[in-house]
Amino acid sequence: MCAISRLRELLPRGKFDLAGDYGGYVCSAVTCKLFGMDESQAPAALEAVNALASFSPEIDAVDIPGAYVKLRDFLMPSISRRRAEGADGSLPLIDGLLNHRTSGEGRALSDDEICDQLICAFVGVTEQPPKPAAIGLLLLAQHPDQLAQVRADLDTNVAIATEEILRLGTTAQWAVRTAHKEATIAGQLIRPGQRVLFSMFSAARDEREFENPEEFIWNRPIERTLVFGYGQHFCIGSHLTRLFVRTLVREFLAHVRSYEFDMAEAEHSISYFHWGWMKLPVVIGDYSLAGQDRA
Ligand code: HEM
Repeated sequence: MCAISRLRELLPRGKFDLAGDYGGYVCSAVTCKLFGMDESQAPAALEAVNALASFSPEIDAVDIPGAYVKLRDFLMPSISRRRAEGADGSLPLIDGLLNHRTSGEGRALSDDEICDQLICAFVGVTEQPPKPAAIGLLLLAQHPDQLAQVRADLDTNVAIATEEILRLGTTAQWAVRTAHKEATIAGQLIRPGQRVLFSMFSAARDEREFENPEEFIWNRPIERTLVFGYGQHFCIGSHLTRLFVRTLVREFLAHVRSYEFDMAEAEHSISYFHWGWMKLPVVIGDYSLAGQDRA
């Protein structure tokens, strides 16, 4: 399911959830394709992934272990099916790991090991890009003058605005490392074995790097970013995320001439790690679809 097909279904409704019904559904449908599942599983896959950032009344917190079990239930059948069918490379994410041999022992990975490797990508594709896309369309609606500038040339400007949207609307808040050797960072001594938490959210708002960092400026110069991490563990999904955000924002703006948000019904993530809107109801004013116009 591409963004335009989804908009065709959603726009006539007049009101829908920009985070879940639009971006969430499109990204989840792509996840299904990448992981060899039927697209009909997209809503359930999205729900399973969103459980990682949702309150569970049963345990009075976010139920990470419970969400992990559900995610395994999604992934394991695809892995065992590919193993039985023969991993011919046509489903690269899974086939690549089935055909991989460990460097030391030269052995194949078990289904469990492959599942553990893939869960991060499964969550990444499904859950991450819809959030900045939704926030981006909200930020643009809150700055009508900037929205008009972006609309002037969607093909060029949405790609530029995406960098600012990712700066202010990044989902992953922090990462943690264990120091292997002594280091002094900003005057603070870090000893070997100490845990260090670094905040991408804070780095994206560092006034030494960005002038008026809390302000949304769609075309501000962004020379470097830490929103996808840095070094050895740099996000493997950064290019896919940019593609998703650009596509979701561009297609929405290309087809919707006016829109506003029902913030009374909006729901924010309660996760201390995955930041963003879980539900962001949008009310559609004028829109245009080929062969189906509403003034
Ligand atoms: C808004 C979108 C995204 C953001 C903000 C984001 C952020 C990050 C960050 C900060 C890291 C580094 C974590 C660390 O250093 O410990 C990371 C790693 C990773 N990301 Fe993303 N990500 C996004 C989307 C995606 C997508 C779409 C995928 C799907 C392929 C993905 C898959 C991964 C994986 C597998 C890693 C681990 C890489 C490793 O440890 O070598 N991410 N991501």
